[in-house]
Amino acid sequence: MDRNLALEFVRVTEAAALSAARWVGRGDENAADHAAVESMRRAFDSMHIDATIVIGEGERDEAPMLFIGEKVGKGGPMIDIACDPLEGTSITAKGGSEALAVIAAAEHGNFLHAPDTYMKKLAVGPGARGVIDINETPTWNLQRIAKALHKKVEDLTVIILDRPRHQELIGEVRQAGACIRLIGDGDVSAAIATADSGTGVDVLMGIGGAPEGVIAAAALRCLGGEIQGVLQFRKDDERKRARAMGITDENRVYGMDDLARGHVMFIATGVTNGSYLRGVRYTPYGATTHSIVMRSQTGTIREITSRHHFATKPNYGW
Ligand code: FBP
Repeated sequence: MDRNLALEFVRVTEAAALSAARWVGRGDENAADHAAVESMRRAFDSMHIDATIVIGEGERDEAPMLFIGEKVGKGGPMIDIACDPLEGTSITAKGGSEALAVIAAAEHGNFLHAPDTYMKKLAVGPGARGVIDINETPTWNLQRIAKALHKKVEDLTVIILDRPRHQELIGEVRQAGACIRLIGDGDVSAAIATADSGTGVDVLMGIGGAPEGVIAAAALRCLGGEIQGVLQFRKDDERKRARAMGITDENRVYGMDDLARGHVMFIATGVTNGSYLRGVRYTPYGATTHSIVMRSQTGTIREITSRHHFATKPNYGW
């Protein structure tokens, strides 16, 4: 994939973030999501790409979305896109932290084609890559991760979405002696946090969105970490859709190569402040955005701060 595309993609996540940021703290998740989706679609359509959205988001909660199978761009190289125009809709509505506009891109056929359902996930940073197994117990994994990181299990911090479905998991992690950081939303950021020693997070465990699992895999491929996932179906309708997408084994463990293969790019812009990205900030002339651009091919990670002048900027919908 042309490396210049990575910088073009920043415009796409910036546009989505700028639009979503207008809805921070305003209590309207759908309006925030809709604003991000529409801006992202418009920005994609201004690019010289022939892209297919293979991982979209929104179907699970009937929110506005970029549809799986939707074509974007005005012609150019064929690429597949996994995107979440607003990762953290309720974070945005409540004015919380870690909301992002995010996309991952790969050559055609390199992302898992999965329906918008749930996924059980286990993610770690580079120091614990290769030692995890999602089919084993949380305790078994914590012992392996601790050994790989030259720590005690008691020194590990596990990040888990705060959901009733995780009661048993939380109980076992506490029993094993590790610390837990419970988060309200945003497990893409949480997966990335495992690869950044500054966050103090060592491992992500639990069930979140499957699209977010694929996007997190793209980020961790660039960062040298690892994620494993198993799809979780709640209804027959989800199973049917999965079968139509070629998924026959419900218990299959998806590793890095199944989720995001080959050379991938990961691009995110902060909507609200987070542990590694600042949110959109308004200024007398417009706004500043903070983005991260990563390419697995080289492992280069760029942080981009942009100053947007609203008087001269094409209208992305804010
Ligand atoms: P959206 O903001 O895109 O809806 O996702 C937020 C999120 O917390 C994801 O990070 C996570 O994977 C998923 O929702 C978990 O789903 P649920 O809120 O249904 O438990």
